[in-house]
Amino acid sequence: MVKASAPGKCILFGEHAVVYGQPALACSIDQRMTIEIESEKTFNAWRVDGRTMDAKKHLHIEYIRTRLPPHDGQPMHIRIRGTIPKASGLGSSAALSVALCGALQQIRDEAIDPVQASVLSHLAEAEAQGGRASPMDTATSSLGGFVVLSDAIEEGLDYIETRTMDVNGETRQWHLHTFSAQIPEGVALVVGNTGVRGSTSAMVDQVARLIETNPKRKVELETIGAIARRGIQSLQEGDMEAVGRALTENHIVLRSLGVSSPELERLIRAAAPSSLGVKMTGAGGGGCMIALTRNPEQTVGAIEMEGGRAFISEFKAEGLKVEDAN
Ligand code: MEV
Repeated sequence: MVKASAPGKCILFGEHAVVYGQPALACSIDQRMTIEIESEKTFNAWRVDGRTMDAKKHLHIEYIRTRLPPHDGQPMHIRIRGTIPKASGLGSSAALSVALCGALQQIRDEAIDPVQASVLSHLAEAEAQGGRASPMDTATSSLGGFVVLSDAIEEGLDYIETRTMDVNGETRQWHLHTFSAQIPEGVALVVGNTGVRGSTSAMVDQVARLIETNPKRKVELETIGAIARRGIQSLQEGDMEAVGRALTENHIVLRSLGVSSPELERLIRAAAPSSLGVKMTGAGGGGCMIALTRNPEQTVGAIEMEGGRAFISEFKAEGLKVEDAN
């Protein structure tokens, strides 16, 4: 039996604006997906959590298992475990795909390869989502730490690679970067989940319509880009007060774009007094918010008092890794 795990992610800066070429920053979180794989001895078919695998239901798994088949062609039994809530904007499907790549690499007697996992998982996401997927979730989950995605190569950051993909006859290109952040001891991220599912495509379409009817509002996306660059610089300098301010400013612009929700606003209001900064994270319309805080327990308590589910994450979550199978 082999085992691999990969972390979820949250977006600190730049959601929605990234669709229009602005930079966005994601970071890995402590919550992870774990995949265990062993040969399936009883049934002559691939199985997932005790059931025969349905390729239509498990699109990501199907894509990856056919690209990284075991050398002997033996069917496998895949067990999925994890603490990342589904459909909440925290990258659970990306983490599942990345961990599966890591487990299959081991089955094939190959060394764990986060870059291969990042590329294959991005392709699997694109396939499952009908072409529309940025490499943000899968790269952050594979590599761990901070990942900046932008249409331009950003100055002052460590460039990783350029990813291109043909989407509906159009070639899309993303530049991936990382950087070293100075996070002082005792500062944590708290993630609060509204429990309301937001639809990424509906929220992205909503922003597209807003810009179409009023092109002047594009300036708000440029503002988000400027806030993201400033927030990244403050993270590099270890100025957590400035990072917190940038998070809150980013949220205010997202709210004015109409992608927040009453549930998100309730959790954000509750978390703000004990935090350095607060914002929604991901597409919005529901899903999760984040708080940068020196009082994580207090912030978690405030979010839970408002009916949200909350957890604490540090900033150093490792990317794809082998887990001890015993
Ligand atoms: C969703 O997690 C992030 C968005 O910016 C959409 C995208 O980047 O594809 C809203």
